Parts: sequence; structure tokens; C-alpha cells
Amino acid sequence: MELHLRPKNILIIGGGSGIGLATAERLIKEDISSIIIASRNIEKLNDSKKKLESLKKPNQNIFAVSFDISNIKSHISTFDLIQDMIGHENKLDGLVISSGVNFDGSNWKGFNISEEDYDKVMNINLKGVFFIIRNFSNYLFNKGVRGNICVVSSISAHRDMLSVYQISKQAVSGIVHAYGKYLFDRGIVLNCVEPGPVHTDMMKYLAQYTDGVNPGKPWPENAIKRTIRSEEIAEIIYFLMTEMGETLSGTCILAGGGTKALFK
Ligand SMILES: NC(=O)c1ccc[n+]([C@@H]2O[C@H](COP(=O)([O-])OP(=O)(O)OC[C@H]3O[C@@H](n4cnc5c(N)ncnc54)[C@H](OP(=O)(O)O)[C@@H]3O)[C@@H](O)[C@H]2O)c1
Repeated sequence: MELHLRPKNILIIGGGSGIGLATAERLIKEDISSIIIASRNIEKLNDSKKKLESLKKPNQNIFAVSFDISNIKSHISTFDLIQDMIGHENKLDGLVISSGVNFDGSNWKGFNISEEDYDKVMNINLKGVFFIIRNFSNYLFNKGVRGNICVVSSISAHRDMLSVYQISKQAVSGIVHAYGKYLFDRGIVLNCVEPGPVHTDMMKYLAQYTDGVNPGKPWPENAIKRTIRSEEIAEIIYFLMTEMGETLSGTCILAGGGTKALFK
């Protein structure tokens, strides 16, 4: 069976780095009209935009948009802005949510986390994700457009890490399970990937471990003894954005390389 990407104009939140950027690089290889990368740091986005422009086909467009997912009031105006950018003959019909924060203050501290840090993590990782799924779904529905949404949750959703990051990711996976079934009635395919350890800006300490291509120590916590590459996660996201995504509706694909702690 030959797979085809369903959406043609895809917004990638967190598309300026890590898994989001790898996803943009993967999707640009397909029959796609526009990729819009969005996050808070516009300098970083513009660097990534240049990289993507060197990979794109002549009929494809790359846009970079300054955006904070935790600013819920800005969601619809950002969709409108993007619709103007891509032209009204095209339809914004795909969303990848690869934004997230996991700073030291939120991880491993358990009950010692400050209220301020708790709010920061939850506003970006959970509240922002819940409302962008709702707002994007309503946006598509009101315009009569079918679309795809793919969320990047985490293997943390399955672990007892005593972190607020983990709570946020458990909830995000739960949203996908529940709303994925409901949204299909509205023509929207919602799925999610739960990556294991990937060496990105967020997880710099993973540089010392091998990812199966780059040299390094074996990763001790999974069956394949290595970290996961961002392009491997991007391949799963691509798959979920093809027509096969429909058969999974409301599913989270766990890509941790067989994390042992989960099977104890
Ligand atoms: N790396 C891993 O091992 C791993 C494992 C499991 C899950 N994940 C998840 O994978 C996703 C991508 O992370 P990554 O590993 O690729 O790290 P990353 O390179 O740090 O990517 C995170 C992205 O989120 C953006 N972002 C942060 N806050 C935002 C906000 N308020 N509004 C909009 N964008 C925001 C950041 O850009 P700005 O700073 O410009 O806003 C950045 O581009 C995250 O959801 C993360 O939790 C990662």
C-alpha cells in the first residue's frame, strides 16, 4: 500500500528544533504545499526556516511564526494569520504539537516544585495542548475542512517519575485517547507519539549515549540499548499524518525502544 500525506498545509508548533524540526524535514519530502513552524524564539525559527528552504521543492512554502501555545487567546488569530500567509485558495489542515518544556525545576523534584514552575510546565505542556486541540478542531469544523492533528507526548506518560512534566504528559496522552474517537465524527484524525529518550535541546545530557548511528555509551534503560533519533520519531509522525492515521484514531504510539522500567 502506498501511503500519502493527508494534510497539505501543516503547522508544526515547536518546529524550530528537535523532534519538531525533524518532522518538518520529513514532511517536506512529501506532496505538501506549506510548512509553518511556530514557537516563541523567532531567531531560532528563522535559522530553521533557512535550513528547510534549502530542502524544499520549488512549489513549496516555508513560514516561521512567533507563537506561544500557552497564550490561549492568540490561537485563533494565529490560525487566521497563517491562513492569510498560505493564501485563501489553500487550507490549513494539519497540526503537529511538538512544543514542550522540561526544565530542571519541573523534573525529579516531586512535591518540592514551586507553584510558579508548576504553572509554567502545565500551561505549556497541558493547558496549551488541550486548548490548541480544541481551537484547531473548531477552526477546521467551522470551515468544513478535514484535518489531522498529531501530538508529541512522552514515554513519561507511563512512568512514575515524580515530576510535573510526567503528570502533564499522562494527561496529554489521555486527551488523545478520549478525543481521538470523538473528533473523527468531525473529520479530524487525532493521534499521538510517545517518544523515549531523544537527544535534543531539551535532553542535552543524552549526547553521551549512542543513538545507533552516533557513537556513545549504550543507553541502559531500554531493550535496544540506545536512544531514539528525532528522525525516527518524525517517521512515526509522518505515518500518523497519512491516511493510515485514520485506522489508529485516538492512539498513542510508544516509541521507547522497549523501556525496561515499564515491564517490571
Ligand atoms: N527529547 C526527548 O527525549 C523527549 C522524550 C519524550 C517526549 N519529548 C517531547 O517532544 C517534544 C519536543 O521536544 P524536543 O525533545 O524536540 O525538545 P526541543 O528541541 O527543546 O523542542 C521543544 C520545542 O518547544 C518549543 N516551545 C517551548 N515552549 C513553547 C511555547 N510556550 N509555545 C510554543 N512553543 C514552545 C521550543 O521553542 P521555543 O523555545 O522557541 O518556544 C522548542 O522548539 C516535547 O513535547 C517533549 O516533551 C521529548
